[in-house]
Amino acid sequence: MPLVNVKEMMQKAYEGHYAVGHFNINNLEWTKAILQTAEELKSPVILGVSEGANKHMTGFKTVAAMVAAMVEDLNITVPVALHLDHGTYEGAKKALAAGYSSVMFDGSHYDIDENIQKTKEIVELAHSMGCTVEAEVGSIGGEEDGVAGKGEVADPAQCKLISDLGVDILAAGIGNIHGQYPANWQGLDFETLGKIQAACGNMPLVLHGGTGIPTAMIKKAISLGVCKINVNTECQLAFCAATRSYIEANKDKEKKGFDPRKLLAPGCEAIKATVREKMEIFGSIGKAE
Ligand code: 13P
Repeated sequence: MPLVNVKEMMQKAYEGHYAVGHFNINNLEWTKAILQTAEELKSPVILGVSEGANKHMTGFKTVAAMVAAMVEDLNITVPVALHLDHGTYEGAKKALAAGYSSVMFDGSHYDIDENIQKTKEIVELAHSMGCTVEAEVGSIGGEEDGVAGKGEVADPAQCKLISDLGVDILAAGIGNIHGQYPANWQGLDFETLGKIQAACGNMPLVLHGGTGIPTAMIKKAISLGVCKINVNTECQLAFCAATRSYIEANKDKEKKGFDPRKLLAPGCEAIKATVREKMEIFGSIGKAE
């Protein structure tokens, strides 16, 4: 199946009260592990690429070509979206031109008027190409690829303003942060999430910073209209821990254990286990059957 935008998968998730996982990719192994897990579990999936990861993989064209070809070579039948994560204005345009099926335009650091203007432009361009757009109101806390957010709680009225611009999905800060949560984290602000949902009607909402959010909070967020949950750090930690164990057990010194295909295999299995666990919690398993 060719890459799809997120429109239909988000509508189905909204109506079916589950969320689709957005898993960030960093390289070929990451992409393959996530796609294979989605296919095995018959779950729709969103591959997220930050601008930093995009640069690491040498650019928009390389990423779009790799993902499209891998979906074909692996005979992936579940819906797969290739989504730019926290895109800049210029980055979003380049990603669309290269073949991404969806983009996030993160205008949260502009003042609201400029955020509105630029979001409108990106929506018009994306829709003219059959692609979807995620917008953000209230920056997400923590730091991701050098993009630092203060962790604001979004203003429901601003969410309504932005969602009325024709965006397909909306990320709203509700006390969530990228990376690991500190011990004194206050948890998600469900009162605000409820107000945002009431203000924005049936707009599918996005929860960033999916790493380490307790299952009960994830489920409550889904019940309040969250249809897409972004996970990055948790896959990185799982990959790192499994790779560390392999090397600490001196497996790289046994026979051809230094072969990168062997060296990276435990990390890939750990990514698969993490993705599976998340898909179970999000309720997306079997939704692409
Ligand atoms: P985590 O790294 O906290 O899982 O957040 C991922 C994310 O929100 C990507 O946009």
